[in-house]
Amino acid sequence: MNEMTPVTQSEAPTTPILPDAQTITAVTHWTDKLFSFRMTRPNTMRFRSGEFVMIGLIGDVNEKTGKAKPLLRAYSIASPSWGEELEFYSIKVQDGPLTSRLQHIKVGDEVIMRPKPVGTLVHDALLPGKRLWFFATGTGFAPFASLLREPQTYEDYDEVIITHTCREAGELTYGRELIEGLKTDELLNEVIGEGFWKKIKYYPTTTREESPKMGRITDLMRSGEAFSDLEVSKLNPESDRAMICGNLAFNLELKEMFEEYGLEEGANSKPAHYVVEKAFLD
Ligand code: A2P
Repeated sequence: MNEMTPVTQSEAPTTPILPDAQTITAVTHWTDKLFSFRMTRPNTMRFRSGEFVMIGLIGDVNEKTGKAKPLLRAYSIASPSWGEELEFYSIKVQDGPLTSRLQHIKVGDEVIMRPKPVGTLVHDALLPGKRLWFFATGTGFAPFASLLREPQTYEDYDEVIITHTCREAGELTYGRELIEGLKTDELLNEVIGEGFWKKIKYYPTTTREESPKMGRITDLMRSGEAFSDLEVSKLNPESDRAMICGNLAFNLELKEMFEEYGLEEGANSKPAHYVVEKAFLD
């Protein structure tokens, strides 16, 4: 096969050499620190959009035991529950135990995926509402990439508002392209109706590089600027539901703001107004 020939799924190795092995079908590098990849999905695997699984590679051989253990990390599934393949969005940490190696995966390679999805960023953990907010920083966009492609998101809500704060403008590209692609998403246009994407309001911001909207979303909400830019009222427990996925400080700060607005945290066992998950960094 010449180097330019794309390797399709059917040409990829079919005999797994790893436990729970799946085969990589596509890899995209977005910046020197971010990449996304797709892999085969086991026929029997079911998940709810917004959940995460453990994925990884076989680690180094232990000198004492002579055995190598799997090196696994939690990754939000970025593809929707109905997708034929599984998509993930990851940071590259040069000295990170897993992502220093994972960033070099290629089509046809095998990775381990434990098919036991779990998580709180799911529709089931929220009470019915009118507006659904997604708040992300960095790779915290991943579960929302799944939920934004899930028909239920638009069936259950009149308006879907997604905010994404990153350090640099290039880090917004994966999310921006995904949202842009929704306009031509055949399934969503068919199931929800043409123009469903008009329900979406996208609010990307950067903190360390010039872009049309600068600043942390938390500061922009505190000053009221985010609400006036979006032409919406502040969040309130009657109409608003929210999901948070970002770094720890961000999650905690937003949680505190939501409690001030009168919103209560929900869970699978007790649906309420908002749910939180941390981004799974190396
Ligand atoms: P900042 O550049 O001001 O720290 P990181 O790469 O460190 O995970 O951060 C991703 C983005 O999240 C950055 O734009 C960062 O802004 C922002 N951020 C970090 N902490 C908070 C927080 N507590 N509230 C809001 N945004 C935050």
